[in-house]
Amino acid sequence: MNAPALPADALRAALARLLDGLPPKAAAQAVERLIANYRGRTPTEAPVLRDRSDVVAYAAYRMPATFEAVCSALGAFADAVPGWTPGSHLDIGGGTGAATWAVSATWAGERPVTVLDWAEPALALGREIAAAQPELKAAEWRRARIGRALDVDGADLVTISYVLGELTAADRAAVLDVAVAAAQAVVVVEPGTPDGYARVIEARDRLIGAGLHVAAPCPHSAACPIVPGEDWCHFSARVSRSSLHRQVKGGSLPYEDEKFSYVAATRFPPAPAPSRVVRRPQIRKGQVLLDLCETDPSLRRATVTKRHGPLYRAARDADWGDAWPPAD
Ligand SMILES: C[S@@+](CC[C@H](N)C(=O)[O-])C[C@H]1O[C@@H](n2cnc3c(N)ncnc32)[C@H](O)[C@@H]1O
Repeated sequence: MNAPALPADALRAALARLLDGLPPKAAAQAVERLIANYRGRTPTEAPVLRDRSDVVAYAAYRMPATFEAVCSALGAFADAVPGWTPGSHLDIGGGTGAATWAVSATWAGERPVTVLDWAEPALALGREIAAAQPELKAAEWRRARIGRALDVDGADLVTISYVLGELTAADRAAVLDVAVAAAQAVVVVEPGTPDGYARVIEARDRLIGAGLHVAAPCPHSAACPIVPGEDWCHFSARVSRSSLHRQVKGGSLPYEDEKFSYVAATRFPPAPAPSRVVRRPQIRKGQVLLDLCETDPSLRRATVTKRHGPLYRAARDADWGDAWPPAD
């Protein structure tokens, strides 16, 4: 008997099957339409993902990247809550379900899963591709509009990924309040841009204001030490490029890096990293430069040299986004 496919592989295969029947030109045109629709958008009164070709384009073109970004955020979050596994998951603005796949990739086992979105075609496609993943087969895909009237059942984990940028300020506040009322843990992921970071900070403040503790990426729940407008906290996740990506974007690299910002917060006290690497480490001759966000809270550059022995070897392996120093 074959071993079950890992969620990342199963998702890649499901998305490849989705494109199988489509002429490549039609798929590329659908992606270009989608990119044009998203460019310079402000929150609208109606879904952007209106029909099957919109959602196939979204799933094939963006979902691998949002999946990897959420996986990366959940990986750091899981390290900060050792021993905790979500018993249930609610994905708000879940679209085609990238975060549900990321949760399955992070914590093994089945759990009740609910995906809410106002775009029916996105939910239908999400349900269709989730049929390839045993843990997601029983997921409930429900049409719902984010706002004060959003009514949800409790869930251990609520994810809100790549959604806040599509909402008005009032709806951003509402969805966070709904999440806080429903969950033990809330994870918000946004694009790793200055605007995405600003929305993450706004969400972080609201979660802390509601009594939650920041578990990741920050090593503390105090104010972010980054001066607004001067920099933005973000991380990077590597995404394999499909032939569709290469067709639309050109270039020959087999991967691209998805930049994202995130915050994970819990109702229970977490064990956040002692500090976190917040830029790509710079490896020089005999030394590694690490930009760290620390518990104080402050930003500091640490220089780890050969004289530091095992710590130097760990620094050479450290990656952007990792906890520092690494747990034994
Ligand atoms: C960029 S997609 C992200 C989808 C998914 N969470 C992911 O990470 O790939 C944004 C999603 O938010 C949904 N959305 C936007 N505004 C919404 C609203 N007011 N109510 C419900 N869903 C909304 C969209 O339909 C879309 O599926």
